[in-house]
Amino acid sequence: MNVLGIETSCDETGVAVYSTESGLVADALHSQVDLHAVYGGVVPEIASRDHIRRLLPLVQQVLGEAGIDRPDAIAYTAGPGLVGALMVGSGLANGLGLAWGCPVIPVHHMEGHLLAPMLEQPAPEFPFVALLVSGGHSMLVQVDGIGAYRILGDTLDDAAGEAFDKTAKLLRLDYPGGPALARLAGQGDASRFQFPRPMTDRPGLDFSFSGLKTFALTTCQAHGDDLQTRADIARAFQDAVVDTLVIKCRRAVQQTGIGRLVVAGGVGANQALRAGLRDMAGKLGAEVFYPRLEFCTDNGAMIAYAGACRLQAGQREDLEVQVHPRWSLEALPAL
Ligand code: KG4
Ligand code: ZN
Repeated sequence: MNVLGIETSCDETGVAVYSTESGLVADALHSQVDLHAVYGGVVPEIASRDHIRRLLPLVQQVLGEAGIDRPDAIAYTAGPGLVGALMVGSGLANGLGLAWGCPVIPVHHMEGHLLAPMLEQPAPEFPFVALLVSGGHSMLVQVDGIGAYRILGDTLDDAAGEAFDKTAKLLRLDYPGGPALARLAGQGDASRFQFPRPMTDRPGLDFSFSGLKTFALTTCQAHGDDLQTRADIARAFQDAVVDTLVIKCRRAVQQTGIGRLVVAGGVGANQALRAGLRDMAGKLGAEVFYPRLEFCTDNGAMIAYAGACRLQAGQREDLEVQVHPRWSLEALPAL
C-alpha cells in the first residue's frame, strides 16, 4: 500500500510517499523560512497562501518520483497547528481522496514526530520514552504502542524551540533563531554566565523555559551586547536548556524503567543536546534514537508513516475536512 503524506501545519509544505512494502519511496519539502524571516516569525495568512501555491506541484513531484499515478491512501496533518495552514492540507487531501476513491486519514502532527524515528534502522521497539521538543511543544511521553500515549511532562509556558527563537531574537539573530543561536553558542565561554535550570530542584517532569529568556534579557542589559557577550549569553542559555532537558529525560527513564529514549522535533537537531543525552544514556545503559536530521523538523514522511500505521491497523474515517488547531495526543484512539 502506498500512502501519500501531506504536512501543512506551520511553515513547511511537506509531501511524501510511504510504501508499507518498501518503506519511504519519495519525499519533498518546501520551506517558507525566507517568506517569514522579514517579519521575524511565522505570519499565518502568508503561510496558508504559500501552502496553496506549493502543495499540488509537490504532490505531483513525489508521485512522479514514486513512479505511481495515484496512491492507495492519503494521510494529512489535521492538527495541532495554524488553522488556515491545516485547512489547505486537509482540503486537498479530502478532494484528492474523493476524486481517487481512496481512504483519507487525519494525523496528529506530534504523533508524526513521535513515530519519525521508526523510519530509521534500527527502529526503537515499544515501549519507549519520547522527548518531543519543537517550536510549539516540550513534552515527555510514554509510548506503549501506536496511539497509546501517556504525557509524563509538559511545558507550563514556552516550548523549548520557542525559548530558543525568542532568546535568539533578543540576541539580534535572524529567524528562525534556534540554529543561529546554537552556532553563536559555539563561540561562547561556558564559564562566564550561569543560568538557572528551571524546575529541576523539585520532583516531576514538567518544563518551564520562559524565565530563561528573561534571564538572557537582564544579563544583556547588565553586561552590554557586544558580540562576545552575546555569544557567552547564547552559550549559557543553551547549556541551561540542554542540562534541563537531560535531567528530565534521565528522570523519565528512571521513573518508567524504560531504557529506550526517542528524541523528536526541531530542537532534536541541536548537537549540544545530542551530546548531553548520549552521555546520560551511556551512564544509565539506555539507548537513544533520533530521526535523520531532516526528519527532526517538519516533513511529509512522518505523516505518511503515521497514517500508514493507522490504516494498516484498520482505522477508517469519513471524507471530512478535519482540522484541530489544539489537539491532545492523549485523545487519539489506541490501535
Ligand atoms: O518541529 P519543528 O520543525 O516545528 C514545529 O513543529 O514547531 O521545530 C522547529 C523549532 C524552532 O523553534 C527552531 O528554532 C528549533 O526547532 N530548532 C533548533 C535547532 N534546529 C531547529 N533549536 C535549537 N538548536 C537547533 N539546532
Ligand atoms: Zn513539528
